[in-house]
Amino acid sequence: MLLNINNLYTKSTDEEQKAILKGLNLAINPGEIHVIMGPNGSGKSTLANTIFHSPKYEITSGNIYFDGNDITNSNPTDIAKLGIFMSFQNPVTIPGITNANFLTSLIKTNINKDISIFDAQKMIKEQMNKLAIDSSFLSREFNVGFSGGEKKKNEILQLMLLNPKLAILDETDSGLDVDAIKTVSNGINLFHNEQNSVLIITHSNKILEDLKVDKVHILVDGKIIKSGDAALALEIEKEGYQKYNHENND
Ligand SMILES: Nc1ncnc2c1ncn2[C@@H]1O[C@H](COP(=O)(O)OP(=O)(O)O)[C@@H](O)[C@H]1O
Ligand SMILES: [Mg+2]
Repeated sequence: MLLNINNLYTKSTDEEQKAILKGLNLAINPGEIHVIMGPNGSGKSTLANTIFHSPKYEITSGNIYFDGNDITNSNPTDIAKLGIFMSFQNPVTIPGITNANFLTSLIKTNINKDISIFDAQKMIKEQMNKLAIDSSFLSREFNVGFSGGEKKKNEILQLMLLNPKLAILDETDSGLDVDAIKTVSNGINLFHNEQNSVLIITHSNKILEDLKVDKVHILVDGKIIKSGDAALALEIEKEGYQKYNHENND
């Protein structure tokens, strides 16, 4: 098992101390693509942020294991080093830093500190070709003036360069047009292989159309209340979460 979450409870660390995850279980094997869907406010982003040990949340009980390590109390740097990548819902822009600079330092920091600029740029260009990114991209400032789709392409490029064991994509498709969603799903397919896993948090079926999804989970009120195959996502698209909300409100 690559990721194994056991009976996880979290609360927010602000004065509200809100209980958010309430006994969540999730197991992902190497080579699998999992999808989490659920109503707004059900705890999806909290789950992603808690896996990455965001200071906004405190784990009050339960455990998170990744690739044989107990990461329940690990810090985000160590978690990233073990091989988890997380996409941001709203990627940052960095004026004054080119994409070439940013991505080169990403490689130097995370993959090989001794790599030459030449070899780093070769790595970047190789992945850019796979994603059909124009070479003018390298001299543009990092995400500055990028469309939503271009930012996501940039994020997928970072994913390809870092080549983590687990990619967590939190609503990486929201607000994107159909072409940009295709770019994201193509990127996921380029990245994905039998050794690595992907956890996609999404509201829409569009991104799932081109992916071979192994499991779909419905998260309601801090718990996964139903898991199934890709058909479950289609059912949600047709019927919404109504009946699951109802079941949960007894
Ligand atoms: N840092 C926080 N402090 C207080 N409440 C929070 C915090 N983060 C999230 N929440 C609340 O927890 C619930 C789950 O939020 P979130 O995980 O963002 O939901 P989702 O991503 O499923 O829409 C929401 O009611 C949200 O308002
Ligand atoms: Mg969210």
